[in-house]
Amino acid sequence: MPASPAQTASAPLPPGSLGLPIIGETLKFLNDPDFADKRRAEYGDIFKTRILGRPTVFMMGPEANRFILSSHMDHFSWREGWPATFRELLGESLFLQEGEQHRRNRKLLMPAFHGRALENYFATMVTIAQRYLDTWRQQETITAFPALKQLTFEIASTLLIGSQPGALTQQLSAWFEELTNGLFTLPLNLPGLPYAKALHARDRLLAHIEQVVQERMDHPTDDALGLLVQSRDENGDRLTLEELKAQALLMLFAGHETTTSMLASMLLALAQHPAILKTCRLEQDALAISGKLNLEQLKQMPYLEQVIKEVERMYPPVGGGFRGVVKPFEFNGYHVPAGWQALYQMRSAQYDPNCFPEPDRFDPDRFGPDRAEHKRTEFSLVGFGGGPRVCLGLAFAQMEMKIVMALLLRHYDWQLLPDQDLSLQRVPTLRPRSGLEIRVGARSEV
Ligand code: HEM
Repeated sequence: MPASPAQTASAPLPPGSLGLPIIGETLKFLNDPDFADKRRAEYGDIFKTRILGRPTVFMMGPEANRFILSSHMDHFSWREGWPATFRELLGESLFLQEGEQHRRNRKLLMPAFHGRALENYFATMVTIAQRYLDTWRQQETITAFPALKQLTFEIASTLLIGSQPGALTQQLSAWFEELTNGLFTLPLNLPGLPYAKALHARDRLLAHIEQVVQERMDHPTDDALGLLVQSRDENGDRLTLEELKAQALLMLFAGHETTTSMLASMLLALAQHPAILKTCRLEQDALAISGKLNLEQLKQMPYLEQVIKEVERMYPPVGGGFRGVVKPFEFNGYHVPAGWQALYQMRSAQYDPNCFPEPDRFDPDRFGPDRAEHKRTEFSLVGFGGGPRVCLGLAFAQMEMKIVMALLLRHYDWQLLPDQDLSLQRVPTLRPRSGLEIRVGARSEV
């Protein structure tokens, strides 16, 4: 069990191997998808290694999630945890901030992602999703991951910074692709290398965002950036231009890549489970009797919500969260010194049979009211993180996913094309290696 910092001095360091000097076990970590599971089987819920140049503890399971995300979060730093590439490419945004600065900024950003603002986003999300789905139907085949990414990026850029569809939005999306590719590479700023391209893309994006921020400052609108420009903290202060630029860049980045991953996984899982697909359709058909998709209907989709949770559990877009250890602590009888890096992993609880029996089975009923397996153990389902720093865009993402899926289920069929590599690649976000090749048609079954 966790213990207070005062007890830590005499406890041993966690078991495990630091591997080679400097490089440690980085290559095994990057190349072996079972890296953590193997070590957990050997050492238990906490073990040490050295990755990305730093001594690191992996902390596995729901108790570890609670420790990092909630009960002992003041022992951890986000800024010191994420790799240098994240710090440089995503700038001074909420993702890296802590303490009072984080609290103040999260509060300022929150209204743009909840309540009335969210309701106002509904019609735009529907219009954009409908247009994309119609286009897909007219194509012979599509690769779902990049196609979904265009869709989610258009929703994010329209609602967050008020972009109009067209060449500029496509350009912004291409820059984001380059920025994302730079997050998981060596930070070498040499011409032609991915990191140099990522830095260039970041600068272009920031230049564009600055222009939009200036426009919003002169003429406030009701997109998320318009709301941010107007919001004031307890002292009546607004976010500065530099703060607004960094936060807007983060929102755009966080606002589409992960949602794309979950939507692609949902298309895959439903195509592979026809009985579950049928139950989803029945729920939608019953709602459609009362007319076209509307906000009220969106609140009456318990089965689709269960499917979304099951996709979050089995296919978490983000594999884990890095933290820097800023205060030493003890966990499960082991001492972890300040200066180390800590990592929690979504799969460690989400595939734990003690939390979710038969974890390899895609079974949305596990989240139904009678079983509610996620409520039996706190911090067992953490696809959106958890605790006070749970994903800020959770409600935004869920609304978007429900809209896209409700429209697809009501009006379209989709089939997986044969002979494609459906094994999963985990970085930068989870996806089938093939990108998920599908054929979309008008719905035939009534
Ligand atoms: C399916 C979609 C999404 C998934 C799976 C997801 C996942 C996550 C996770 C796991 C974290 C916590 C990371 C950690 O603990 O280290 C997080 C944080 C965050 N997410 Fe999301 N996210 C999604 C969509 C969004 C959207 C749509 C937005 C904004 C428009 C967003 C904005 C953020 C922000 C700002 C944070 C940092 C919050 C803070 O530190 O206070 N996310 N997200």
